[in-house]
Amino acid sequence: MASAGTDIYLAKTLLTEGKLVAIPTETVYGLAANALDEEAALSIFKAKNRPSFDPLIIHIGSADQLSQWVTEIPEDAKKLADTFWPGPLTLLLPKKNVIPEIITSGLQEVAVRVPDHPLTCELLKQLDFPLAAPSANPFGYISPTTADHVNEQLGHKIAYILDGGSCDVGVESTIIGFPNGVATLYRKGGLALEEIVKVIGKVETLPHSSSNPKAPGMLKSHYAPRKPFYLKTREEMRLADRSKTAFLLFSEHLDEYLPEKQLLLSNSKNLNEAARNLFNFLRLLDITNDTTEIYAELVPEEGLGLAINDRLRRAAADQG
Ligand code: TXA
Ligand code: MG
Repeated sequence: MASAGTDIYLAKTLLTEGKLVAIPTETVYGLAANALDEEAALSIFKAKNRPSFDPLIIHIGSADQLSQWVTEIPEDAKKLADTFWPGPLTLLLPKKNVIPEIITSGLQEVAVRVPDHPLTCELLKQLDFPLAAPSANPFGYISPTTADHVNEQLGHKIAYILDGGSCDVGVESTIIGFPNGVATLYRKGGLALEEIVKVIGKVETLPHSSSNPKAPGMLKSHYAPRKPFYLKTREEMRLADRSKTAFLLFSEHLDEYLPEKQLLLSNSKNLNEAARNLFNFLRLLDITNDTTEIYAELVPEEGLGLAINDRLRRAAADQG
């Protein structure tokens, strides 16, 4: 297990030495290293068992540092950065040469964001390099939203965990790129699309493809629990085997089953609360011994519901 605490100075020292430190953000915990140090970046891929074709997001301390790392900032990108940073939004922009190829998996664009968490903001302020940080989970598994989640799965591979409590947003950042100058959604995430549209108008969506090399985060099977995981309607859920099934539901219990086998993402139908609970609940259902499969229902397709449903669909991918 890695030691966990709030020692920013220690985190800074370790990162400066090229070591891995898990950091809290408002979305999920990140597995951070010096983004300008190729070897440190390589160790992120190794620790996560992440394929080298899946590029990393760099985290910077403020929007006004953006021009240090990218060659061009389209008007829409500027508006989004000014409005939503620090916050759960990542922008894909043409990289400067100082960003090593390993960070972007050879792509010309780098993913950048300013995270919104007091510990990590303070840490970034003290560093003279950006932090490359994917979510701090083994590749393909559920993203971590507490320091314990990180420790359970990657604790033996990292130097230190900066413990910032539970993540407020609970799903990864929304990713927007600008292919041919057109604002395009690459990943549904913790900033609702409606909010983005209010600021820049129309946003295109990338056609989904499980083999799209431009957005490997769109790999279909992702965020997956280890137990068989199925998306079901409430009607279908009524046919479940009560001895082996646990349920992930939006806001209302199923009367026919034991309440302790059902987790409600939000009693009050609040999609932000549902997002905050999502990954923690998936983990809880995954580790309980008394059930061997998970049934989940989709949530309303609005606000953070888009990101929640996206994660649920990916978790269920290839499982029928
Ligand atoms: O909220 C978040 O974004 C969290 C926290 C830690 O900041 N990070 C995160 O990183 O979710 P990760 O690596 O788990 O997901 C980043 C996604 C990946 O799907 C990756 O393929 C995509 O961003 N990505 C990164 N750089 C890219 C690039 N240059 N072009 C296209 N996609 C990129
Ligand atoms: Mg991830």
